[in-house]
Amino acid sequence: MKKFFTKNKLCDGRFENFIKEPSTKIELEIGCNAGRLLTRIADIHRDRKFIGVEIDKSLSLDAYKRVVDNNLTNVAIINIEAHDFMTNFLNDNMIDVIHIYFPTPYPKSIGLQKRLICNEFIDEAYRVLKIDGCLRLLTDIKDYFKDILQFSEFKKWWAINWIKYNAGQQKNLLIGSPCEITYRLKNELDIYSLQLIRMS
Ligand SMILES: C[S@@+](CC[C@H](N)C(=O)[O-])C[C@H]1O[C@@H](n2cnc3c(N)ncnc32)[C@H](O)[C@@H]1O
Repeated sequence: MKKFFTKNKLCDGRFENFIKEPSTKIELEIGCNAGRLLTRIADIHRDRKFIGVEIDKSLSLDAYKRVVDNNLTNVAIINIEAHDFMTNFLNDNMIDVIHIYFPTPYPKSIGLQKRLICNEFIDEAYRVLKIDGCLRLLTDIKDYFKDILQFSEFKKWWAINWIKYNAGQQKNLLIGSPCEITYRLKNELDIYSLQLIRMS
């Protein structure tokens, strides 16, 4: 079964089929780029399902190729804007983990009007996560991070210290996405981390 979807192919039943087993954990990576991190973690956690969302078509195709090359049957790649995807295609309480690493700070550079993470997006993340589900985020942009902390300071989230996720990363890396690896090599950049748990 092919697992590359664009917006107009999301209603043909195949995506629903992919996510239908309620007992399987489902993780969502937003802005999965060419799928380097996603394929690595999906390979480690073959008992879970992974959805990679990427707005750029050519990067989505690269990610899909990586999924096929690695024989991963537990990953779907979707070429769509992430907020739109969550609002229109995800049910309440269905996702265990949302990964967002280095969200684009300058949205106009990719044809969008505003940054992905805003109040409405945080509400959507809350809606689609299961209770105790987790949103994991890294960014190197201080003012974006400050905004995100404000959006998520409501009582319904519990902010915890970063708990290591097994992504097969080297010891000094928080997750080991391509951006984190690049920025750590440069050494001069601060990286801000946030892990939010959905309460109640
Ligand atoms: C700076 S890159 C980070 C890539 C990767 N997460 C990492 O840590 O190396 C941001 C990625 O998110 C994608 N992206 C940005 N805004 C998006 C949106 N609203 N919906 C889906 N993908 C988005 C971009 O196309 C790009 O591939």
